[in-house]
Amino acid sequence: MVRKLPFALILAMSTSVVLAGPPAGAAFDPGTPGSAGAGDPYYPLDGNGGYDVKHYDLAIRYAPASDALAGTVTIRARATQRLSAFNLDLDGLTIRSVTVDGRPAKWSRDGTEVTVTPRRSLSRGHAFDTRIVYDGVPKVIQDPDLGDGGAFTTDDGVVILGEPDVAQAWFPSNDHPSDKASFSIALTVPKDLQAISNGVPAGRSTAKGWTTWRWEQREPMTTYLAMAAIGRFDVTSYRKDGIQFLDAIDPALPAETYARAAKSFARQPEILQFLSGYFGPYPFRAAGGVVDAEGGWGYALETQGRPIYTPQDFETQEDGDSIVVHELAHQWYGDSVALDRWRDIWLNEGFASYAEWLWSEHEGLGTAQETFEQLYATPATSSLWQSKVADPGPPNLFIGAVYDRGAMTLHALRLTVGDQKFFRILRSWAQIHRNGNVTTHEFIAHAERVSGRDLGALFTAWLYTPSKPAHP
Ligand code: ARG
Ligand code: ZN
Repeated sequence: MVRKLPFALILAMSTSVVLAGPPAGAAFDPGTPGSAGAGDPYYPLDGNGGYDVKHYDLAIRYAPASDALAGTVTIRARATQRLSAFNLDLDGLTIRSVTVDGRPAKWSRDGTEVTVTPRRSLSRGHAFDTRIVYDGVPKVIQDPDLGDGGAFTTDDGVVILGEPDVAQAWFPSNDHPSDKASFSIALTVPKDLQAISNGVPAGRSTAKGWTTWRWEQREPMTTYLAMAAIGRFDVTSYRKDGIQFLDAIDPALPAETYARAAKSFARQPEILQFLSGYFGPYPFRAAGGVVDAEGGWGYALETQGRPIYTPQDFETQEDGDSIVVHELAHQWYGDSVALDRWRDIWLNEGFASYAEWLWSEHEGLGTAQETFEQLYATPATSSLWQSKVADPGPPNLFIGAVYDRGAMTLHALRLTVGDQKFFRILRSWAQIHRNGNVTTHEFIAHAERVSGRDLGALFTAWLYTPSKPAHP
């Protein structure tokens, strides 16, 4: 009878409860700090370990008069280990406060690493919200090898884009493509300006001379594909083929450039139809393009759902919209199917370049076979043959060989396995890894599985050998 239990037995029972509990000391297990990097040898400090971001909520006000932003970013993440502390990436800017699950947290900074120490350790599997209030003038991260990324001020606002590094220049983040998340982006700007970002528009409101533009990027996105374009734009939006299109063209562009950009943008539904025929359904609900009159960054970028272009991209149209085709092809290969490690960059650039070859053939501007033969005729001493496409080294992420020899690798695969199997490989690759992350090894295994052939020698010669492979 419970009432009459002798005292000694109660004592023994409570002791046994303690003994049956967690191992000695576990109640005080502080956990360990998450690592300062995601483990990418090209960029050891990009990304962080110990957690997985689910969602970024960005609320950022930008004042063109001072080039300064003021933001509150809430990051919902899940701990993948017991965490005593964890890192975020942030390059420049001033942190004003940090809370974790609503409680003030300590933070310290060392270069681009922010270490957040929550009041209590976060248990493994725990979903937690980190809120950072910060401000400052976002920088341009300079890279003499790759080109610059970050916040490029324009005559009427700013364009924020870059690859591989950009996110840490404007919001605290787990800044590595291996950690994808959905995004809600609210940009507050003087009411005479527009603020364009990723995904679908989610309304706007104006108060006291400032307009907040809201954007929802529901499909997971890697951090470098988040963008902002603030200034005056002519915005065109329409719905077609189940996709929400929204284009923004700077009215300050020279009239001919403006007309060519508008003409190329008008072909996006047709281009997406064409690419879907090879790659499967377009992976996102939003599409469109942005072109600003400045473009000092000097490249087009496949920012998710809404690539950004420079005026130079529309100086001529002899190449038949190939730049737009390239950035739209990245929506499948690069954005939806994203990298896990930067060394595999050819999985982005080789595929997007191959899409240009397919489009060129479709437009009657030269077949894929002709493009391949032209490039193959390049002398053995050319830089095209002197690099390892599937591991080019950090300064060489965007060298010509990554693009051209990457595309040639796909064409060599096509000649080896035949059209039917080749296009099945491309399509199922996009399907299986939709919204995911991939490696070159996975692609090779996938191609071998779909084709039923051993392709080791082919890929070794085309991707990993710094010399000219035999003609396939
Ligand atoms: N991914 C872009 C494209 O080929 C190129 C980005 C170049 N980046 C740079 N930092 N230069 O569409
Ligand atoms: Zn590209």
